[in-house]
Amino acid sequence: MPSPLDALPIRRLTTHDLVSCADLSENRGWPREEHKWGLLLTAGTGYGIDAPGGNGLAGACVVTSYGPGLAAIGMLLVAKEYVRQGVGRRMMQHTIAEFQDTALTLYATESGQPLYEQLGFKTTGKATRVLGRFQPHGLAPTVATRPATASDLPVIVRLDSEVFGEDRTHMITRLPAFADQLRVAEDAHGITGYAAAWPNMDTHVVGPLIARDTATAKALIASLAAGTERPLRSDIDVRHDELLDWLKNSGLEPVGSTAVMVHKIRDLPGDWTRRFAPLTVAAG
Ligand SMILES: CC(C)(COP(=O)(O)OP(=O)(O)OC[C@H]1O[C@@H](n2cnc3c(N)ncnc32)[C@H](O)[C@@H]1OP(=O)(O)O)[C@@H](O)C(=O)NCCC(=O)NCCS
Repeated sequence: MPSPLDALPIRRLTTHDLVSCADLSENRGWPREEHKWGLLLTAGTGYGIDAPGGNGLAGACVVTSYGPGLAAIGMLLVAKEYVRQGVGRRMMQHTIAEFQDTALTLYATESGQPLYEQLGFKTTGKATRVLGRFQPHGLAPTVATRPATASDLPVIVRLDSEVFGEDRTHMITRLPAFADQLRVAEDAHGITGYAAAWPNMDTHVVGPLIARDTATAKALIASLAAGTERPLRSDIDVRHDELLDWLKNSGLEPVGSTAVMVHKIRDLPGDWTRRFAPLTVAAG
């Protein structure tokens, strides 16, 4: 059955829509996450449908392009008053059409997954969300870390492109302003990993987390934890089970999971063995 919502246009969102986007998150019982919405609406392309009667947004999503071959879809949200009336499907079909020459990826919640499957997305992996106050345990990490400096940025961007498999310069160069901490790990030959901790509601989210090996990832997390009083949150690729076990033993509890899905490609590019956590599940 056609719904009156089908006639409502899909428009580009701008930073002027930030509060409406946060209201939409709240409408679905999600945290407002205005800091994250701000990043996504500036570094990515937001799409939205205005609710009838000028009452906020009926639906929204954000696409972040990495270039030139991959775009990440995130924050697909439909206000509870308008669910199951085709808004989510229409937003996704619009996005797929806009990015028809680009491979797509997203982290799916349980409620989003059936829709994505109907649209041809395939599950290729899984991430576990962990949350809690970090309590150091066992031997202190031996890998050296330090705060990143401006002159590290080109090296970080190069390392990130190699591991992520696409150029994320426009996102990575925003990290010094977006994150509260940006740290690198290094050995005698240079930088072997980097990680950011950015403020989200009452937590600090650890991501991106890119590291040569698990020992390096642990050292980066422990050093970020030492710089905050807040609980840490991160979305760890489940293949990194050793890191997940260590995090659980360090006071971070699993609180949920998302399916990593792809469209038009069989798997994500890059090197998953060095990719431990995304910047955010909303942007890859
Ligand atoms: C998931 C979400 C975006 C779907 O939006 P929507 O406008 O309600 O979806 P549509 O009406 O376009 O539904 C399309 C299809 O998806 C499937 N679907 C939608 N919601 C579903 C649910 N809760 N459980 C199972 N399947 C669901 C159905 O197959 C549906 O088709 P049907 O109604 O003809 O059976 C929306 O419910 C939402 O905002 N959820 C909370 C936030 C979230 O989890 N977003 C996904 C982030 S990855």
